[in-house]
Amino acid sequence: MTKTLLGILGSPRKLGNSELLVKELYRSLPEGWQLKLLRLPELDIRPCKGCYQCLFGEMRCPLDDDFPLALDALVKADACVVAAPAYLLGANASLKRFLDRGLSFNAHIDRLWNKPAVGAAIAGIVGMEGSTKLAVDSFIKMILGDHRGSVVLYGALPGEIFLTGEGREAAKHLAKALLEQKHSSETSGPVCQLCGGDTFRFLRNGGLRCMLCSSQGDYEWKEGRLQVRTFAGDHSLFLTYEDVRNHAEWLRGMKEKFMAMRKELKAVTQSYTQEGVWIRPQASKDKE
Ligand SMILES: Cc1cc2nc3c(=O)[nH]c(=O)nc-3n(C[C@H](O)[C@H](O)[C@H](O)COP(=O)(O)O)c2cc1C
Repeated sequence: MTKTLLGILGSPRKLGNSELLVKELYRSLPEGWQLKLLRLPELDIRPCKGCYQCLFGEMRCPLDDDFPLALDALVKADACVVAAPAYLLGANASLKRFLDRGLSFNAHIDRLWNKPAVGAAIAGIVGMEGSTKLAVDSFIKMILGDHRGSVVLYGALPGEIFLTGEGREAAKHLAKALLEQKHSSETSGPVCQLCGGDTFRFLRNGGLRCMLCSSQGDYEWKEGRLQVRTFAGDHSLFLTYEDVRNHAEWLRGMKEKFMAMRKELKAVTQSYTQEGVWIRPQASKDKE
């Protein structure tokens, strides 16, 4: 039976580097795969309103947009590759907008979790990718769970990532990681033992925190190399299927907490209604 690779592109640019990387990866797969593509910036995916309706009852988001189309493609895919360009030191916002609707993914977690996925962050200037790779990794880790590897590639002009052999080599590696069920890490530096993340925040207490799974840890220098150790905390985020389920349950519990505290909370919020002049487009002023 034909398997489907879904390419999720966070780039608005047609035949840009993100698209080429995804297509090159697809070319490295054996026969029996088809490629489907989602270009996130061309979809109408509205910002999450934070209403939490997707966690209750029918578990459906009330927004009427292209999100169900993208979700359906993700649910049906056998594997995914997520590629996004660096925009102002972070991933193009279309990827975050899609991820921001992430609580809606909960209703489909049985078909999403453990779907193999790889990622690529594309930046125009060497070393200027900022948090792009972290954003790509977060998407994979939080929604699909089975993160097989990700790379940072450099190239500003469309096609530039393939002017040296490195880009095509990376695509081959990522394809192999998808097929062989093993992680292909481009980094030889320290990684989080719990999730494989390679971005850390150094804390004032001398410890650190993994920015991918939020686990705390510590570090020491051994023979000139930085060694990182991370530990599972009380609220381990999205490392296992149970974590995802527990997190959704915890969020649902917040409704009861809100109901129990609503008078107390209202007393706080209502004391801030008067300050400031809102700057809004005319159309929404007319509605007021
Ligand atoms: C608005 C904008 C902001 C960008 N910001 C960065 C940046 O912060 N760092 C960087 O290295 N490249 C930056 N770039 C360059 C792109 O990441 C680069 O051209 C990349 O190849 C685009 O990928 P694409 O062809 O898949 O769209 C920026 C490009 C645009 C249009």
